[in-house]
Amino acid sequence: MIRKYENHSLLPYHTFGMDVKAAVFVEYSSVDELKQVLEQEVRGKEKWLHIGGGSNLLFTGDFDGTILHSAIKGYEVLSDSEEEVLVRVGAGEVWDDFVAYAVDRDWYGAENLSLIPGEVGASAVQNIGAYGMEAKDLIVKVEALEVATGKECTFLNMDCRYAYRESIFKKEWKGCYIITHVTYRLTKRRAFHLEYGNVKDELAKQGCEPTLKKVREVIIRIREAKLPDPKVQGNAGSFFMNPVIPRMQYESLLAKYPEMPHYKVDEEWVKVPAAWMIDRCGWKGKQMGRAGVHNKQALVLVNCGGATGQEIITLSQRIQQSVFETFGIAIVPEVNFLS
Ligand code: EPU
Repeated sequence: MIRKYENHSLLPYHTFGMDVKAAVFVEYSSVDELKQVLEQEVRGKEKWLHIGGGSNLLFTGDFDGTILHSAIKGYEVLSDSEEEVLVRVGAGEVWDDFVAYAVDRDWYGAENLSLIPGEVGASAVQNIGAYGMEAKDLIVKVEALEVATGKECTFLNMDCRYAYRESIFKKEWKGCYIITHVTYRLTKRRAFHLEYGNVKDELAKQGCEPTLKKVREVIIRIREAKLPDPKVQGNAGSFFMNPVIPRMQYESLLAKYPEMPHYKVDEEWVKVPAAWMIDRCGWKGKQMGRAGVHNKQALVLVNCGGATGQEIITLSQRIQQSVFETFGIAIVPEVNFLS
């Protein structure tokens, strides 16, 4: 059923906790309904936006256009061999429910991405990632409707041009397609990725062999300890992306900051943690009016209660400025600003 509301509160549909409204809000639950919605509510309209779980959005005021949300649900096993399974999932499923579904069945691949907020459709747009794994490592194909024509299209992983927090759906094809289903490949072979951060140490503390359930538990525990719960304190997870800089630049920074962490991208490029630089600039736990920097993870900006989107943006600009002045590196928000 298509659900359409006017002057609809967006409070339940985003995680930053701003009490803003959408002029029109439409939710659909099938591909056919989406075709109808595109025809009646989207084509020819100047302002519309498709949202997922709203965990990457910052509204600076009411949204005077149409917001779309998918309620396309369901899991379908497309193939099941001794080695692997291919699972086709509706774009409106909650991402972490998919991770739990895979872990419950002893299928490997999604566990490191436990508790990432958001929905399946957005996983394929944002290429969500954590603890050394990204959605692109699992995605086989993405099904979508072309906005201009309503045509059903299928894209293979390589068509989506995935990179760190990037895909073609965020760039050249922004606003051109709406994802309806994503097919993921999960493996039945025991294969863990525990090299990143303190995942291995946390598992070792428990003194047991890793199992899928244990890895999921540990990752959930680490995330819960570091990241604020949006139900308690509005936030959108990492506010900035980790910048990728030339290795030469990183090496010259090392002379001044020998403890600066980094992750190798390839021979020429390295990724440096924005959280570490923000922390070094003294922002962790700081507050400017009703906007703040989380006291356990400097990459997360928080709504300390009643903050406007603009207050958060002002704080983010001050942080960008001080990181640039200190390290000569421009950090870019991962969060989308909307009004
Ligand atoms: N660090 C600090 N101070 C802080 C926080 C971190 O110095 O306040 C240092 C850490 O010691 C570490 C480095 O910065 O050396 C990286 O920190 P962390 O491992 O916590 O990860 P991150 O790079 O800050 C990324 C993702 C997170 C994901 C974690 C774990 C991005 C933009 N963020 O954060 O994703 O959970 O790695 O894999 O890539 C999200 O996108 O919303 C998100 C939470």
